Amino acid sequence: MRKSGYKIAAVLVVLAILAGGQALHEMLANGSAGHLDKADCADCHLGGKNVTVQQAGMLVASQEALCSKCHPAAIKVSHPSGFQPRTRPVAMYPLDWKGDLTCSTCHAVHGRGPGLMRGTKLGRELCLACHDADFFRKMRDGGASLMVGHLSKGIDSNAPALDSYSRQCMECHGQSGDPRLATLVDKNGVARHASRSINHPVGVNYQQATNFGGYRPRRVVERKLLLPDGLVSCVSCHHGYLKEHGKLIVTQAGSKLCYECHDI
Ligand code: HEC
Ligand code: HEC
Ligand code: HEC
Ligand code: HEC
Ligand code: HEC
Ligand code: HEC
Ligand code: HEC
Repeated sequence: MRKSGYKIAAVLVVLAILAGGQALHEMLANGSAGHLDKADCADCHLGGKNVTVQQAGMLVASQEALCSKCHPAAIKVSHPSGFQPRTRPVAMYPLDWKGDLTCSTCHAVHGRGPGLMRGTKLGRELCLACHDADFFRKMRDGGASLMVGHLSKGIDSNAPALDSYSRQCMECHGQSGDPRLATLVDKNGVARHASRSINHPVGVNYQQATNFGGYRPRRVVERKLLLPDGLVSCVSCHHGYLKEHGKLIVTQAGSKLCYECHDI
């Protein structure tokens, strides 16, 4: 029972990746096109090709669901989206038909400007268009870490969703001032270390990988290493909470760390 469940899940994931990849490929093939110009309008608009400005707000699902198909990282660690605010923002930042603050409140979805932002405000100036200064004054860092809009810097917007521990690591390492520590997660989900000592997939489902052979069983791995939500994570290899920050859980000598999972 469990096994066939995994198989179906694996097939679904592969199909989802293929479908997403195809759409992305079509869009990227036309380099000069605006965001979503080459997408199938009916993927989002009830009006399909006949969509007009008047009925454009009639979408087949919430923007949180539609946009996260291609931007899983942006939606995970981000400004709250898809809720009714107590007070209506200034007209420059419109709510959707049900009065929700959503992606298109801040983003010109079919726009072209930097970051596809509505208007020209960015950073603190953007935040203060809706929040008063007091809102940030009470925060330990004055809100500085939030003013980017999403905490996914350093993670490619098309990378698979990472577990919450890896995202925390990336808050500092993704845009580290110290180039020696800067880590990137590219669109294929490969963690690229500054030192290039080892580049490795993160955000991949360990159980699915074992189905293809060459890996030790998950329950054996988990005796020593963490696989949060079943995913390979920064904290699968690095201690997450130790005085000796970033220490490897198992030594790299003789590739010992690697053989905790790889069985080849
Ligand atoms: C990924 C989802 C998505 C796809 C695909 C998409 N749109 Fe949209 N579109 C949106 C969202 C979200 C809005 C903003 C809706 C709102 O204001 O409530 C929008 C708004 C619009 C508007 C209103 C004017 C504007 O720019 O805000 C038009 C016209 C429009 N889309 C046309 C199209 C056409 C034509 C296509 C196909 C080539 C298309 N859209 C594909 C999500 C999408
Ligand atoms: C079919 C895939 C796809 C969907 C669906 C999609 N996007 Fe995008 N989006 C892209 C691609 C490709 C780019 C350009 C490459 C990049 O920056 O990741 C992009 C770029 C962006 C950018 C600008 C990134 C930058 O730094 O300039 C924003 C903002 C954005 N998308 C928001 C949205 C929102 C909001 C939605 C939902 C209405 C959405 N996207 C739906 C594929 C998609
Ligand atoms: C409160 C305003 C706000 C809301 C709401 C918002 N964003 Fe953003 N978004 C920003 C800002 C600010 C940036 C950074 C733009 C820049 O500096 O270029 C950004 C950047 C992005 C980027 C490119 C950078 C990255 O992290 O990948 C994507 C993709 C994106 N937003 C998608 C979304 C989606 C999808 C939603 C809805 C679930 C959403 N945004 C809701 C403010 C917002
Ligand atoms: C279009 C209006 C708008 C913009 C622009 C905006 N916000 Fe918000 N934000 C809201 C609303 C509405 C809420 C819901 C809570 C409330 O009503 O105060 C919210 C909630 C938040 C929260 C969650 C508070 C909690 O409950 O923990 C944070 C953090 C936040 N905003 C930070 C920012 C930052 C940082 C920026 C600039 C990048 C920003 N906001 C830009 C409207 C906005
Ligand atoms: C609050 C910011 C912050 C967060 C969050 C963070 N780090 Fe770091 N990390 C740093 C700084 C600063 C250094 C450099 C410390 C030094 O040079 O003494 C560092 C260094 C490292 C090193 C190199 C250690 C060495 O001696 O070479 C590793 C490995 C590392 N971090 C892994 C991680 C992992 C894994 C996570 C998530 C569990 C994480 N970090 C989360 C700020 C952070
Ligand atoms: C498959 C195991 C593995 C994973 C997954 C992994 N690392 Fe590492 N990491 C290493 C190894 C091995 C080193 C080299 C350590 C050494 O030489 O002492 C390293 C080194 C580092 C360093 C030190 C600087 C450098 O470039 O060598 C940082 C910072 C770091 N990792 C952060 C991260 C972050 C953040 C993630 C998650 C996005 C991550 N690592 C995921 C194995 C891993
Ligand atoms: C926590 C378990 C774990 C550890 C520890 C680990 N790996 Fe992996 N590794 C995986 C998984 C799972 C994949 C499969 C990813 C996928 O399916 O895309 C993988 C994929 C790889 C790949 C890509 C192979 C391919 O064809 O996709 C390389 C190369 C690799 N690992 C090398 C290493 C090295 C070198 C080490 C030791 C520094 C190491 N791994 C440690 C779990 C691990």
